[in-house]
Parts: sequence; C-alpha cells; structure tokens
Amino acid sequence: MTQLLLTGGAGFIGSHTCLVLLQEGHNLIVLDDHSNSSPVALERVATLSGLSASAESSTERLQLIQGDIRDSTCLGKVFIDARNAGKPIEAVIHFAGLKAVGESVREPLRYWDVNLTGSRCLLAAMNANDCRTLVFSSSATLYGYPKDVPIPETAPIKPINPYGHSKAAVEQLLHDLAASAPNQWRIACLRYFNPVGAHPSGKIGEDPLGTPNNLFPFVSQVAVGRRTSLQVFGGDWPTKDGTGVRDYIHVMDLAEGHRAAIDCLLAEPAQLLTLNLGSGQGASVVEVVRAFERASGCQVPYEVVARRAGDAAITVADPSLALQRLGWRTQRSLDDICRDGWAWQSANPSGYSDQQ
Ligand code: NAD
Ligand code: WQD
Repeated sequence: MTQLLLTGGAGFIGSHTCLVLLQEGHNLIVLDDHSNSSPVALERVATLSGLSASAESSTERLQLIQGDIRDSTCLGKVFIDARNAGKPIEAVIHFAGLKAVGESVREPLRYWDVNLTGSRCLLAAMNANDCRTLVFSSSATLYGYPKDVPIPETAPIKPINPYGHSKAAVEQLLHDLAASAPNQWRIACLRYFNPVGAHPSGKIGEDPLGTPNNLFPFVSQVAVGRRTSLQVFGGDWPTKDGTGVRDYIHVMDLAEGHRAAIDCLLAEPAQLLTLNLGSGQGASVVEVVRAFERASGCQVPYEVVARRAGDAAITVADPSLALQRLGWRTQRSLDDICRDGWAWQSANPSGYSDQQ
C-alpha cells in the first residue's frame, strides 16, 4: 500500500486514475484547486470504490485538499502532514495544469505560469521532502505536425502552440533535474494521445466548462441534445475519408497506464522514462460520429467547414515502447469508448452540475 499525491486528481483523467489506484490498494491525497473540476467527481470516485468520502471530510484512503500547485507553503504542508501522520508521500502523479490549446494562444502568461511555474514549485517541494518519484502528464501535442506516423517517442519535439511549449519545457526541466542528481529521480513522462470516454458506470466522465474544444465531448453534447450540430474541421485532409484522424484512447485504459507506470517506477532503479500512451489505431472524425451514433442510438448532425488552424491530418501513436516497458496496452475499442461516453453523457446531460 503506497501513499500517492495526485495533483489535479479531481479532473477528467485524474478522477478515473484515482479509482484505478484505490482499487489497486493505494492511499491517495488529491491536491486540486477546482479551477476545472468539481469536488463531486471525487465523491463519486469514493462511492464507486466503496469509500464514503465527501468533499469536506476525508477518509484514510482518499484525502482531498483544495489548493494551488503554485502555493509552495500549501505544497510543503501536504508533504509534512503526510509524514507526520506516518504515511510519507512516496510518489506523485502530476495532472494539474491548463490544457486548452486556443486559450493558451490567447493567454500564454497564464499557461506558462500554471504549467511551468506550477511544475517547478511541485518539483522543489518533492525534492525538499525526499520524494523523487513522479509521473508527469505530457502530451502528443509535443509532436506538432508529425512527419512519420505512427509516431515513436524519438520523433522531433516541435510544439506549435503555448500549451505544447509549456509541456515541452516541463519535460526539459525533468531531464535537467534527473541529470543533476544521478540515480535519485524516478520519472515517467507519459505522452497521452486523445483521452476520451468515461468509466462504464456513467458516474464519472469529462465535464468541460462552456463549449467543448475537443471532438468527443462536442459529439456527446450534440447526441444528448445540448447542441444542434457538429462542425467538422476540414473534409479535404489526405486521410481515408478526408476528415482528421486521431488516436482516441479510453480514459480507463489511460488510468491503467498510470497504475502500470507507478508500479514500474517503484520496482525499478532510478530512471527517466518517456512513453506514448495511445492505442496505435487511428479513427477519423466521421468514424467517431458514426460509432457514437451506433452507441447512443441518437443522430449526430454535422456540417463540414474549413480546417481549424494548427490541426494535423493524422496523429497516431506508436505505443510499442509502453508495452515493452510497462507491459501495458489499450484493451478497449472505439465502440467501448462511445458506449461508456454515452453512459456518462446520457446520465449527466449537464455534467456534475446536475447533482450539485
Ligand atoms: P482537467 O482540466 O480535467 O484536470 C486538470 C485538473 O487540474 C483539474 O481538476 C483542475 O482543477 C486542476 N488544476 C488546474 N490548475 C491547477 C492548479 N494551479 N493547482 C491545482 N490544481 C489545478 O484535465 P485532464 O484532461 O484531466 O488533463 C490532466 C493532465 O493531462 C493535464 O496536465 C493535461 O495537460 C494533460 N493532458 C490532457 C489531455 C487531454 O486531452 N485531456 C491530453 C494530453 C495531456
Ligand atoms: C480531434 C479531431 C479536429 C472538434 C487536442 C489537443 C492536444 C491534446 C488532445 C492535451 C481533429 C476534429 C474537433 C470539432 C472537429 N490535449 N474536430 N470538430 O486537436 O487532436 O488534440 O486534445 O494535451 O494537445 O490539441 O483533439 O478533439 O480537438 O480534435 O472536426 O468541433 O476532431 O479537427 O481532426 P486534437 P480534438
């Protein structure tokens, strides 16, 4: 039983990962400022895993602390309190950050502050408290417009927006840190492709603020009747049907990838691992729409419009290194993704605010 700190653990990927880690037997502390999440998510995680935490109270197994990763005093207290309680934090999974590409173009200072300064504060607190095991939420966005697809981890890092630059900068900082203290840091940079779907219970899922930027939540909201139709960004890409192709990964597969990464880091000598987490399969926008229509039984009307600035034609992972190093590969199909995404969207048409 390991004591883990999850920054941003109340968010989309963090909440699903909490569930998997609780089921594995780990004890969790979640530090989240709720700038993009609801405390209800973790109440539901607690219920799903047989605990009874509420937003205000904490259990031995799942503790929620509302705070900002840029607040060094708060971070220091989290580590010290855990140590004083006889359960020092052994590893951190660092989800907290801002992730909207368009917003990052408009507000680069905020993105660099939260994503880079926040990570620097966290790493300083970890170092000061002798906790040097970290899983970092990196992104396939680092590859920009990839030349070779499927994309191996050795592909050039060429981000094309401030969000991607901030993620690349954190990866560089992690390399510098690992090099400064040989044989001390155990780090996994996990480059997620397109995380989508929800827990099959339909109790937890993705709950974007305002109009979704990403395809999958937009399609879900059209199917449930919150929006009238989807705009498909470009029908003239050099792909199987002219629409953009992506590697959609079920969020439960992704959560299980984090469990595998933590197990690997804690079992092996100090190292810095960089791994793609994707399925290795590409699906077009139209294929996602059709799969969602099958799963939901609802129509998803769409119109093809101009390409979106900054999009690549095809982004698909080469996930073979994650299989080799973690023994992990995706288990769930696009149909599973749509079935579980629909379970969440149809039971929570307005997301967590339905229940607040
Ligand atoms: P999310 O927004 O649902 O979760 C992020 C969480 O971090 C939220 O709960 C938010 O309230 C919290 N947070 C933000 N700023 C904070 C701060 N300063 N202090 C404390 N908490 C803070 O996003 P997600 O989809 O779960 O993504 C998690 C991580 O994975 C992010 O770092 C993101 O960049 C990365 N990532 C996401 C995707 C994706 O498509 N969802 C793809 C690749 C990488
Ligand atoms: C997928 C496909 C669009 C919306 C983004 C970030 C990336 C990572 C994952 C964090 C593309 C098309 C979309 C719509 C559409 N996030 N589309 N209509 O752009 O691959 O990746 O999320 O790290 O950094 O850039 O995902 O879901 O926005 O787009 O036609 O309303 O759907 O053009 O082909 P993307 P997405």
